[in-house]
Amino acid sequence: MKSKKITIQATLEDADRIDSQKFDPVTGVSAFREMVLDYYCQHGRPMAWRDTTDPYRILVSEIMLQQTQVERVSTKYPEFLAAFPDFASLAQAPLADILAAWQGMGYNRRAIALQKCAQRVMNEYGGVLPADVDTLATFPGIGRATASSICAFAFNMPVVFIETNIRRVFIHFFFPDASSVNDAEILPIAERALPDDSRVWYWALMDLGTALKKTVINPNRRSIHYTKQSAFEGSDRRIRGRIIALLLATPGQTSDEIAGIFSEEPDRVLRIIEALMSEGFLECSQNRYSLVS
Ligand code: ADE
Repeated sequence: MKSKKITIQATLEDADRIDSQKFDPVTGVSAFREMVLDYYCQHGRPMAWRDTTDPYRILVSEIMLQQTQVERVSTKYPEFLAAFPDFASLAQAPLADILAAWQGMGYNRRAIALQKCAQRVMNEYGGVLPADVDTLATFPGIGRATASSICAFAFNMPVVFIETNIRRVFIHFFFPDASSVNDAEILPIAERALPDDSRVWYWALMDLGTALKKTVINPNRRSIHYTKQSAFEGSDRRIRGRIIALLLATPGQTSDEIAGIFSEEPDRVLRIIEALMSEGFLECSQNRYSLVS
């Protein structure tokens, strides 16, 4: 009797779940738009870079978010902006200072590219970031998706673009039965769905795409653009190797800083740090880890 009740409850919750909805690519686009914006009203995540339209601050956040999780960026972002508040200060800073402020973010190449962007803005564009996708896509470290997200978030421009979270949303809601979806099939739907306020629209799509990751089997596996990580890339062995390389280059990192360079779940990285500790590879003092010397 007891188990029956639980079953009924679960069924009701399932029917209520946002991810149980599907939309027709032709007739369902406006209902889809409403659902996405409603979702954002109820579940949108506050983030510091959503409180600004300053193109410099948006550029910094979009480069940081390319390969680092939101939680980690949330702590590093204000520190980085305090050290380098604008294009002028970043353009002329010693690289060592920039790398120090970037510490814990991983993928240092992005910090170097960010400074080159700032120098280009100062030297070629009079200190003003160009509001143009094609131009921004020629900047170091900026591909078309990042150029488009900058144009949406800084300038509220009606750009249409797809990145991993956005792709997940469109495949899930519009292609429930397809096994190999091409971005070319998504783009016309994305174009029709785009409302006037592209800034809020893309915040909403990114948040919904992130939430879907936790509730459904990754729809991006059904994208022809999906590249599965090799077994080694996603393996514990690879993570161990990267932790050791990181601590060799910069000893004395906190566990949060170490976890922040990975896109894997922080708990998994913490478990691997613990294993390296118990195997005698690492030592820890005041929550700062180094290689055993
Ligand atoms: N909000 C603004 N830009 C974002 C991004 N790149 N990822 C997640 N949320 C964002």
